[in-house]
Amino acid sequence: MRGIILAGGSGTRLRPLTSVHSKQLLPVYDKPMIYYPLSVLMQTGIREILIISTPEHLDVYRALLGDGSHLGIRLDFAEQVEPKGLAEALLIGSDFVGSEQVCLILGDNIFYGHRLPDMLRAEAARLDGCTLFGYPVSDPERYGVAEVDEDGAILSLEEKPANPRSNLAVTGLYLYDNDALRQAAELTPSARGELEITDLNLRYVDQQRARLVNLGRGSAWFDTGTHDSLLEASLFVQLLEKRQGIRISCLEEVAYHMGYIDAEQLIVLGKTLSPATSYGRYVLELAGAA
Ligand code: TTP
Repeated sequence: MRGIILAGGSGTRLRPLTSVHSKQLLPVYDKPMIYYPLSVLMQTGIREILIISTPEHLDVYRALLGDGSHLGIRLDFAEQVEPKGLAEALLIGSDFVGSEQVCLILGDNIFYGHRLPDMLRAEAARLDGCTLFGYPVSDPERYGVAEVDEDGAILSLEEKPANPRSNLAVTGLYLYDNDALRQAAELTPSARGELEITDLNLRYVDQQRARLVNLGRGSAWFDTGTHDSLLEASLFVQLLEKRQGIRISCLEEVAYHMGYIDAEQLIVLGKTLSPATSYGRYVLELAGAA
């Protein structure tokens, strides 16, 4: 399975933070936002990942993450010239994905849950069609909402419904079989001029090949698109990290834990981060070098 992180968009709701900066590079407590979705893909066992961003910001992502080899993964980069919709990621990434399955994740979505990596790996292994991930929310009318049967098959999908049929918001994490490339190419732009991911997902619903997994109570999901949700995500990460003495979505730790790099490589990364930062010390401690 190949991974795609969609890190473009216009970030209008976060201006002036995003007037010159890319949203997905903004800090979420102690690391850039994109670390969080990247760590999700890495923990799912996906090591070939395409990062899509705007022409003006792509080089900053390259500078931050390089080709991924220091983390034992391979990163490619591609431009989305204009924010023409989430489903366009599959067209831009079509050569990169080739004949593989694909996991698309939005660069401003943060997922946390200790069972999440196992769940994602299991879902990737049993993928047939498309699998979406739902999160119970108190205000479903603000989201894309899925109605599912008792086996998790999606019966309906609605964008920001006035009368939601469930409280399950569709999160920014999508697993697709390779047919998604062909189906995305058949989409036409919506009234707002975008290739809508919901339109792609609805095709799978019509074909009865769409599943939704409820991330449930034991996990956290944040979309960091507004000033308040960005701060809330930072506070959540700070709270958890301080209370538990662990780091969330520390890419160096994930790479080591997944066996993508060894202790020696981890020490090099820790030293580059400098022992003067608690982040750097944490990485060195993981390698038993602090
Ligand atoms: P949104 O939050 O829907 O849009 P946005 O980031 O442009 O922000 P705003 O609504 O404040 O203007 O996008 C969700 C994610 O998808 C986010 O990480 C940006 C990304 N995105 C793209 O990369 N390309 C696109 O064409 C769109 C619509 C979004």
